Amino acid sequence: MKTYRIVVLGAGRIGSVHLREANAMNALQPVAVADSLEGRAKELASQYGLTAYTDYKEMIDRERPDIAVIALPPYLHKESAIYCASKGCHLLLEKPMALNAEECEEIIAAAKHNQVRLMIAHTMHYMAENQLAKQWVESGELGELVMINNVRHAFYFNDRLDWFFRKDTSGGGILMNLGCHSIDQIQWMTNSRVTKVKAKIDQRSYRGDIEGAGVVLLETASGIPATIIQNGYTGVPRNDMEFVFTKGSMMLRTGEGLWISENRVFQEVELDRTLDPYQLQFLDLIRWMETGEASACSGEYGKSVITVVDAIYKSHEMGKELTIIPAKGASCHE
Ligand SMILES: NC(=O)c1ccc[n+]([C@@H]2O[C@H](COP(=O)([O-])OP(=O)(O)OC[C@H]3O[C@@H](n4cnc5c(N)ncnc54)[C@H](O)[C@@H]3O)[C@@H](O)[C@H]2O)c1
Repeated sequence: MKTYRIVVLGAGRIGSVHLREANAMNALQPVAVADSLEGRAKELASQYGLTAYTDYKEMIDRERPDIAVIALPPYLHKESAIYCASKGCHLLLEKPMALNAEECEEIIAAAKHNQVRLMIAHTMHYMAENQLAKQWVESGELGELVMINNVRHAFYFNDRLDWFFRKDTSGGGILMNLGCHSIDQIQWMTNSRVTKVKAKIDQRSYRGDIEGAGVVLLETASGIPATIIQNGYTGVPRNDMEFVFTKGSMMLRTGEGLWISENRVFQEVELDRTLDPYQLQFLDLIRWMETGEASACSGEYGKSVITVVDAIYKSHEMGKELTIIPAKGASCHE
């Protein structure tokens, strides 16, 4: 089996998870990690006997890795992805893919130009309960899908670096950060892109200029309505995704489990969690690199998610429902 040399850009929360899981895989050989905070880079590198860099460009130039994992703040995704692609690295680029759909387009063009694979870390695709939920939707066993309702309350915002609280560095608040996951789950599980968006967001953020909560009504091209309700202020944490069918319902709690109801009572479904989702994510990229068969989490797909986020903010500003026309690329229309 071929072993691929891999580096991680960003030694923060998710960069350290990627490194831990890459280090556990035979197909990957981590060689270096970069972070502008030298202490972070050195500490993480020392755990795995790697070289630490403060400048990711120097790391790419010196190490010439096969794969670069980009786990930097969103405002750096475009410049770092284009740089790594120009040096021939295949990319695992964290979500949100970029600050807006126009930036996504530039990254896609760079990956195409340099003939490297560009995969977006839409991690939901690799979690056991999400995979099984998708199978239930596709099987039709619960009848036809009528609607999806997602409620997510997450209170983890205080101990973040400053980039997280600034729209120009994060791209947005909870609807960008966690909304990406919800939009991805809705699109992926229905095999259909979101085409209609009406949003009302709440700007009473306690730090920075990002929104802290919001309500979004969506519709997929296949006509399935969905709601996303998110709150990052305070209260009781929740991450519920309810699927209503004509003959039953399904409750997905990512990270917790999956429940099915055909008779008013939810029964928990047994899950096989033997494979780590972050390792499955790497295996998907490697499969794409080796076979040429694209991952479902391609750059084009990542751009479709950001297009919906763009439409959420625009819909709020305009106070109107917007239609996304895929053939017209990133643009959304009244
Ligand atoms: N797929 C998922 O489920 C998931 C989970 C968590 C985070 N993420 C995404 O991963 C990205 C990073 O999030 P995080 O929570 O790890 O953030 P973080 O703040 O913990 O880590 C980011 C790191 O990048 C470093 N950095 C900033 N500027 C740099 C530069 N110019 N050069 C090198 N390093 C630099 C920071 O010092 C920090 O250590 C975000 O896009 C986030 O949305 C995805």
